[in-house]
Amino acid sequence: MAAKILDGNALAKKIKTEIAAQIKRDNLEVGLAVVLVGNDPASRVYVDHKKKDCDECGIISHEYRLPASATQNQVIELIQALNADSEINGILIQQPFPAHIDVLSVNEAVSPYKDVDAFRTDTVGKIAVGDYGADSTTFLPCTPAGVMELIRSSGTDICGKECVVVGRSNIVGKPMALMLLNESATVTVCHSKTADLGAVTRRADILVSAVGRARLITADMVKPGAVVIDVGMNRDENGKLCGDADTAAVAEVAGFITPVPGGVGPMTRALLMRNTLNAKRHSHE
Ligand code: GUN
Repeated sequence: MAAKILDGNALAKKIKTEIAAQIKRDNLEVGLAVVLVGNDPASRVYVDHKKKDCDECGIISHEYRLPASATQNQVIELIQALNADSEINGILIQQPFPAHIDVLSVNEAVSPYKDVDAFRTDTVGKIAVGDYGADSTTFLPCTPAGVMELIRSSGTDICGKECVVVGRSNIVGKPMALMLLNESATVTVCHSKTADLGAVTRRADILVSAVGRARLITADMVKPGAVVIDVGMNRDENGKLCGDADTAAVAEVAGFITPVPGGVGPMTRALLMRNTLNAKRHSHE
């Protein structure tokens, strides 16, 4: 196997250890509200993982479960109560929602000071114009921010590189492309209507796949030595967790690759913890 593995678990652990040390040192009480609407089994697993991360960091996790039949008003009323609650620094509403709930309306209901998922449209706008940096109060979306850290951990300089993002979701693909562009990469975004996906992905020095389809990215679609970041979270025909890439085969060609599980997933959650701590630090401004 040629590719080096980018170990998301190890990198996430390092970030969480730093967060825990800061919270302890400054004697902070940091609270994260996690709201789950309905019974999506994958969402329940994600929410349980987030609780464990909170425990590791010394962040107090407040969980709210609403039935799948909850109305949009009920969800928004809960968010408004959490906006007003001084014990809550960050609010996360786990997606996907039941079909009758409007995603954008729910995202907009979260206070900009507590938008640790960075899903509000004004937050996305700040990311589009590059209004973020070391001392900024802008929250970065957790998965793309985690991907940036993984790319940096490979030692790859993003400036001037050909980056191809496969997937155009509001959660990952779009903000991912913007953040790579802000680092002066040449960015191409592909999606389900892209005519010849392989022809585009083969150009990529850095390939980020966030589609949700097992074995979409095969070895022949990858440039030798490329950094391959696999955001996919799928089940193969045996029910085993896998990403978008045919990992073993792609690893023969790529320079670096993230495993699934143990790559992007833990980094997303570590960056959520970082956003929540930042929300606490800026809560009195
Ligand atoms: N569903 C899949 N990823 C995410 C995420 O990062 N945040 C929320 N709220 N829901 C998700």
